[in-house]
Amino acid sequence: MTPSAPPQGHDAVRKQVLVFRELPPDQLARLQAVHDVTVANPRKPEERAIFDAALAQAQGLIGSSFPVDAALLARAPQLEVVSSISVGVDNYALDVLQARRIVLCHTPGVLDETVADTVFALLMATSRRLVELSQRVREGQWTQNIGEDLFGSDVHGKTLGLLGFGRIGQAVARRAALGFGMPVIYHARRPVDLATHAPELQGKAIHTPLPALLAQSDFVVAMLPLSDSTRGMVNAELFAAMKPGAIFINGGRGATVVEQDLLHALDHGPLRAAGLDVFAIEPLPPASPLRTHPRVTPLPHIGSATHDTRHAMAALATTNLLQALAGESPAAVYNPAQA
Ligand code: DGY
Repeated sequence: MTPSAPPQGHDAVRKQVLVFRELPPDQLARLQAVHDVTVANPRKPEERAIFDAALAQAQGLIGSSFPVDAALLARAPQLEVVSSISVGVDNYALDVLQARRIVLCHTPGVLDETVADTVFALLMATSRRLVELSQRVREGQWTQNIGEDLFGSDVHGKTLGLLGFGRIGQAVARRAALGFGMPVIYHARRPVDLATHAPELQGKAIHTPLPALLAQSDFVVAMLPLSDSTRGMVNAELFAAMKPGAIFINGGRGATVVEQDLLHALDHGPLRAAGLDVFAIEPLPPASPLRTHPRVTPLPHIGSATHDTRHAMAALATTNLLQALAGESPAAVYNPAQA
């Protein structure tokens, strides 16, 4: 990614930028070279006053994992650009941004393979009970060969059903179909043109109506973005239609799943197990039964959390912000009508 050149001479206008989640030093330096930058994390009580004061002046915001809602935007009258260090934009009041013609940028593409790695690791760990069995070793319980009660289930050759088939879903499908010999079926609003977008999956990933996908899949993997149409989409009705012994994985957004219905499907329905990287409320509240359920493998939303990928996301978000504040078309803009 090529950094925007700093504005020159009379055109050099330093703008006010508020960084609300830590940026790597090299990316922070790119911003500081061009603009006046305040770094303040609104989640930390001791930084809240600095955040509030900077928000009132900010023309650019960059960060992630904090709700940039209507109330927050009302306290940012100068705002021109919001650059999210995430691909998901469910933390942002899209209608307010639209109405105020504030540009919203995000980070698609650079995290696809890493998130797919995480989802596949979760699928493997859940089906082979890796976390639970490793814990037994640590606790000194490996005193004889394990019995059938602790066996897992195979992954290779089993059917994978994907809810959502965007870039990350396709990366999961490649791992399953090309690496593990798994038939892949997917449900999306419309079939994806694989010849153009993923030729290696032609004939290997089949668009399938939802009832058939649920009935056939040994693994149901949700890779859904959160929107009005997907909120609570994976509910009791869907769980009841899943194959007996199915494993459910969620690598998209927690609130696309009705968590009470998931728990019911684990305890009284067809589900063998669940692997979850995302939850309706994050961090997962201590009282959530999903934290301790014996057949749930929970992760702390680590889909893209590698050094390489988080740096690539920060770099793309920084580039987006610099470009948009300079009046250029950002590399990855979510609401192009505003750009
Ligand atoms: C995103 O970028 O939206 C991911 O959830 C981060 O892991």
